[in-house]
Amino acid sequence: MSDNTNETLEHEHLAHLAALKATYDTILAAHGFDGALFYSGHPQRHFADDQHASFATYGHFMHWVPLAGLDHSWLLVRPGQAPRLQLHAPADFWHLGIELPDAAWVETFDITRVATPTPPRLPAGRFAVLGDVDAETVRALGAELNPPALTQALDEARVRKSDYEIACLREANRRAGLGHRAAREAFFDGGAELDIQLAYLGASRQRESDLPYQSIVGVNRHAAVLHYQHYDLSPATSHHSLLIDAGHRYRGYSADITRTWAGGDASDAFAGLIEGVTSIQHDLIETMAPGVDYPALHARMHQGLGALLGELGIIRCSATAAVQQGITRAFCPHGLGHLLGLQVHDVAGRQASDGTALPPPAEHPALRLTRTLETGMVVTMEPGCYVIPMLLNPLRDAPAGSDIDWAAVEALAPHGGVRIEDNVLVTGKGAENLTPII
Ligand code: GLY
Ligand code: MN
Ligand code: MN
Repeated sequence: MSDNTNETLEHEHLAHLAALKATYDTILAAHGFDGALFYSGHPQRHFADDQHASFATYGHFMHWVPLAGLDHSWLLVRPGQAPRLQLHAPADFWHLGIELPDAAWVETFDITRVATPTPPRLPAGRFAVLGDVDAETVRALGAELNPPALTQALDEARVRKSDYEIACLREANRRAGLGHRAAREAFFDGGAELDIQLAYLGASRQRESDLPYQSIVGVNRHAAVLHYQHYDLSPATSHHSLLIDAGHRYRGYSADITRTWAGGDASDAFAGLIEGVTSIQHDLIETMAPGVDYPALHARMHQGLGALLGELGIIRCSATAAVQQGITRAFCPHGLGHLLGLQVHDVAGRQASDGTALPPPAEHPALRLTRTLETGMVVTMEPGCYVIPMLLNPLRDAPAGSDIDWAAVEALAPHGGVRIEDNVLVTGKGAENLTPII
């Protein structure tokens, strides 16, 4: 980012905090609270060990404080007062203490440094404590722990992004894009999954523990494992495909991008599948606008997948019949996407703006976003198509099985599958793709 861009971001950040303060004042008053105390959280220690697991700061804490990874710290928000940030600053010569940036937002907080991780004393009044805090601590404070209605209202306040948040998501995408280009190169150079992951981390300039989620780097059949969690150390002996789903976190805000590449051993059908899934995604993004029902887009993805499988000769029935018989669900068991922000699967995806629960349809239980699109939402658009034997094999003996060309499925299987995932902002007029061309 240039100095000018940085200055704009700092201004946007101050505007974000001012708007957040007004929103919180309204919500706290509406729910009858004199204030809310947020706990950052802290990393879990491995059992009987002195090592800690990786850690993510609580989303509502980061909505105010742009320090991903901050732990053992507290934030008190009260109407009419500057937010009070209590940083954990123990006398510790093993670790580097917190160094706050030279940024305008720091001046808008009342900041104290405390040697112990204990919460601050609360003034008289009705207070909520939000975060991963034990009940005894909250009882001693005389406060209420994670009140559901207040939590739901604060979740809702994260759904429509401010200009500052959109700038952060855009920057996270730009950095992730650099990593994706390097990952593609490492794959075409014959790298193993681990080499691809290291190329991704290097080019996107981040350590593994700072990732918003563990990169999914699936070569060949591993591309069909939706959350594949390993990295082969040796290059694969065949070069069918790479599916890489990898992100970046910028000031707490996450990118979540997937690309799929056809290797030198890929079939024409697989290249056609990548092209077709990409085109389904582009067409759906074109139709995004405020007021559009996201589950309807998910349904259109299935219709598009049915048509594509037919065009590629993988099925012999109509798109509608493929959807009705559950064939497309077996090829794509996940949802079209989700809200994106301080969490990769961001809060409030399955509730209406008034808090009414919006559960996913019974036949699409993995759909994480069941709302109508609104200006300022940032969502992922991630159609996919995979050969997952556990889901497809049961169709072999079902009536739908006769509509599937099993030889074509077998020929596709060594490629694993395809997912194409971009991060898209809903604007007043339509949509803007925040993910750079990769
Ligand atoms: N990377 C996880 C997801 O795409 O939802
Ligand atoms: Mn995603
Ligand atoms: Mn993803």
